[in-house]
Amino acid sequence: MTTRRIWINARLACEARLQQIETEGGKITAIGPDLSQAGAEVVDLGGRLVLPSFVDCHTHLVFGGDRTGEFEMRLEGADYQDIARAGGGIKASMRFTRERDVDQLVAEALPRLDALLAEGTSTIEIKSGYGLDIESELKMLRAAKRLAELRPFRLRTTWLAAHALPPEYAGDKAGYIREVAIAGLEAAQAEGLVDAVDGFCEGIAFSAEELEPLFARAGELGLPVKLHTEQLTRSGGTLMAARHGALSVDHFEYATEEDVAAIAASGTVAVLLPGAYYTLNEVQKPPVAALRAAGVPMALATDCNPGTSPLTSLLMTMNMGAVLWGMTVAECLDAVTTHGARALGLGDVTGRLAPGLSADFTVWDAERPAQLVGRIGLNPMHMRVFEGAVTHG
Ligand code: NIG
Ligand code: FE
Repeated sequence: MTTRRIWINARLACEARLQQIETEGGKITAIGPDLSQAGAEVVDLGGRLVLPSFVDCHTHLVFGGDRTGEFEMRLEGADYQDIARAGGGIKASMRFTRERDVDQLVAEALPRLDALLAEGTSTIEIKSGYGLDIESELKMLRAAKRLAELRPFRLRTTWLAAHALPPEYAGDKAGYIREVAIAGLEAAQAEGLVDAVDGFCEGIAFSAEELEPLFARAGELGLPVKLHTEQLTRSGGTLMAARHGALSVDHFEYATEEDVAAIAASGTVAVLLPGAYYTLNEVQKPPVAALRAAGVPMALATDCNPGTSPLTSLLMTMNMGAVLWGMTVAECLDAVTTHGARALGLGDVTGRLAPGLSADFTVWDAERPAQLVGRIGLNPMHMRVFEGAVTHG
């Protein structure tokens, strides 16, 4: 038998009057000012702010090792793309990740995961992409699956073998896409390890043309696609991703008007990643005003990774979206809830407070969302509820 609970004295972001939330069987079953409490367990939220749990829709949370040495090199004036071409960057993480087994990857990822959960995140996407051979890529996703057994959150896994070209395929990008990215994807799907397919479309990684066969195969396998694109240059990946009906295009700083129009038409979410923009000291901002004008849903995510975005805070991510790019408080909040969920194909599952959706919400020692977005370094989370059960607080 599942417990019916009424969570009373909830301050919902857009409502003056305190509300009540009824949950049963892991789902929200009703929201209203005066629900029947007969036979229900009552939890008093004390007039605190209640929000949908956060969704971190773009992370590289599982990886081995540390690249803060590159951080120090960049402080001395080195450039991210030069470090990558010299065998650092993603390939440095590849060497560390290949050396580790699943248990070690899990142990290294857990503190990062716990930091996200402690700030109210209940749905997290985790990508492969630091193994760059079939077995190491599968190992990363097995580690991600293990994390979801160890902690209460909803996991979405993404196959990102097309993240960089490993040394053993130097000069043969097409061979790598065919023999590792596509063949490995088939193995990952057979093992139930993959929910979506991603790639890195950039001069230092793969072109849209090179990624096309991978996306075509993903389509045949019934898997949705998403793409790192227009991050450091305008690579043209957005148009290809939109043609494949991508769930999201991610980074998007160098996107053009044509790119914005294409994703407006394809219903693709723009996932903006201010942690990487900030860490790399970029100056090219994503076209927030054009996205807003075109009605394209904007998500924000940590992009948690060992190089360009060593960030494990969605509160900080929202603050960056607002301060660096002029997103409003409401846009920042939607970006880490309903739009983040859409970027994972979970728009009807989580990210909003409505009957029928999963009972994933957070309770804050705050009165208004602006107090979460506008302050830096404070975590006023009082409680996290995942699938109707209290996990923090
Ligand atoms: O999203 N852009 C490509 N990949 C990752 C991380 C790259 C890295 O490890 O340096 C990103 O920024
Ligand atoms: Fe990324």
